[in-house]
Amino acid sequence: MGNPVAHSRSPEIHQMFAAQASIKIAYQRIQVDVGGFAQAVSNFQANGGQGLNITVPFKVEAWELCDVLCERAQTARAVNTLWFDNAAIHGDNTDGTGLANDILSNLQCPICDKRLLLLGAGGAVRGVLGQLLTHRPASVVISNRTVDKAVELVQRFRKLTQCNLRGCGFEEVKGLHVDIVINGTAASLRGEIPPLPPLHINDEALAYDMVYADRPTAFMNWASDLGFNKISDGLGMLVEQAAESFHIWHNVRPQTAPVIRTLRSGA
Ligand code: ATR
Repeated sequence: MGNPVAHSRSPEIHQMFAAQASIKIAYQRIQVDVGGFAQAVSNFQANGGQGLNITVPFKVEAWELCDVLCERAQTARAVNTLWFDNAAIHGDNTDGTGLANDILSNLQCPICDKRLLLLGAGGAVRGVLGQLLTHRPASVVISNRTVDKAVELVQRFRKLTQCNLRGCGFEEVKGLHVDIVINGTAASLRGEIPPLPPLHINDEALAYDMVYADRPTAFMNWASDLGFNKISDGLGMLVEQAAESFHIWHNVRPQTAPVIRTLRSGA
């Protein structure tokens, strides 16, 4: 469920997972009007639906609707995966695990002891921050247009980590040494990039955009100009978070690499 949802590649992904596991599923895009989310979930449940993914702009409403929340979802204060147990609505958030799995397994970049820069302090960053911190980076800087929001996030997450965690504006990251920079601003969706000053990077540094598109995003082009050798969009994250959801619903862990290859090939 989402709005808009027509662009979502999740149905293809889940059908490929289901084919791997020889499970028959129906997984469809459901466009929901703003204001109609709770009713849509109730209708879905009444019609025998068993599980749902939730995307923009309903992840916070989904979190509020849940009777039972996993720890990841509690920390993120947002839910992207729902399932039902009798009448109870259960919720989890697989976005952060999806992002971490993509960076660690698919892109082969360690997070432990690395210096992270997260751009943005909205729902996208809040949804993944807790999971990134579990991988024990050396430091995390959250840089946002509205500095107060970055500082607020830092205050909320500080108790979860021993790492050096701080929030600031974009200008203040000038010359910062970073190993991984992750774009979680909504700017990319409009073909814009945050006004970033130059960073200090080495050959192994990774630039990661949480959104995906058919062609490199504005952020990916910026990273290329800055000299990053490793640059990725968020397609792998999308597939990895879907795999986590699939595991929750079916207790089967699908293979993600062939699914990412198929999506990249445009098949
Ligand atoms: P989402 O759930 O996608 O994260 P959000 O909660 O509205 O959406 O957050 C959007 C994020 O993108 C915010 O960090 C926002 O910065 P502000 O907090 O200053 O609003 C950031 N953002 C959006 N457009 C941007 C732009 N053109 N340049 C830089 N940051 C931008």
